[in-house]
Amino acid sequence: MRHLIDPTDLTRKETEEIIDLALDIIGNREKYAEVCKGKKLATLFYEPSTRTRLSFTSAMMELGGNVIGFSDAKNTSVSKGETVADTVQVISCFADIIAMRHYEEGAALVAAMNARVPVINAGDGSHSHPTQTLTDLLTIRREIGRFDNITIGFCGDLRFGRTVHSLIKALSRYEGVKVVLIAPEQLRLPDYMKHEVCDKNGIPYVEVSTMEEVMPELDVLYMTRVQKERFLDEDEFDRLKDSFILTPEKLKDARPELRVLHPLPRVNEITVEVDKDPRAAYFRQVENGKFVRMALILTLLKWAKENPANDGVFFPEGTLRNELQCSNRRCISNMENVDTLFRPCDDGIEKHRCVYCESKPRQ
Ligand code: CP
Repeated sequence: MRHLIDPTDLTRKETEEIIDLALDIIGNREKYAEVCKGKKLATLFYEPSTRTRLSFTSAMMELGGNVIGFSDAKNTSVSKGETVADTVQVISCFADIIAMRHYEEGAALVAAMNARVPVINAGDGSHSHPTQTLTDLLTIRREIGRFDNITIGFCGDLRFGRTVHSLIKALSRYEGVKVVLIAPEQLRLPDYMKHEVCDKNGIPYVEVSTMEEVMPELDVLYMTRVQKERFLDEDEFDRLKDSFILTPEKLKDARPELRVLHPLPRVNEITVEVDKDPRAAYFRQVENGKFVRMALILTLLKWAKENPANDGVFFPEGTLRNELQCSNRRCISNMENVDTLFRPCDDGIEKHRCVYCESKPRQ
């Protein structure tokens, strides 16, 4: 059995096969109308969502399957103190596959370690959002036609933006990808992403302070929302929330082939006037999310049928168990009774990083 917790849980080849399957689904909807008949998807959403939860629901229904789950954990036994590990063991009795969103970083990994069915990470705190990555990749494939040799600008909240982290990881496996980071100082991409993902894979990146200075070079402009819910200091959020706003004026030097992506929801970082520009691809991107989730559900169910044992979670040699504590207060290892796990790392800064959330150990 396999899970999808991080985009790199799929090889580049497997990722492309899922994208290809999504394209086949788009072209042959009726062929897939009953392929999940009798199967159940559980959507366990501990954090708000519109697109991810409803696109998973819609995806399973279009495959002929059923959906159970919750969109507010307050109405479940979580409010009585039930842990993620116990919850997924229970849900494994009721469903064939789980999609889980959680505000604690690493919660999806804990779910995968304890479930008896495949687990899909539908977003864990500010850490990772691999099904958004598949959505973004399908959109790039359909809009740009390639993953190699693209220059992609990430703009806004690159510190807490889990969709940014996941997409950079996925694109780091392609040739000729250049990354432009457009963010205020306080919302810059975390160091582990720069060193362990960009540097290690030879992905050049530059950090700039305006989108206008790089606009003519970009194939993709990936806008993000400044995420109020991740800030511990509301004044800091107020200072940063209007840092970057995309307007038609700012697009005037952009190439005709540019595509503007956004995982959505947006607040004010793209004005509604931009929606009329054919280069604005973010609402087309939403629909791609449903097709790629259909392809992912089919793939994980197929793999679970071939190998039903839950042997899909691996930790590298040298992983330390219960020897260090995570410095990240939002990490599940600081919230629930789980083993602390630190993998070895050679990014030139840290010797170990938390398996659940990539943070450094507490000093
Ligand atoms: N892009 C995304 O994850 O949207 P939701 O939060 O609405 O699911």
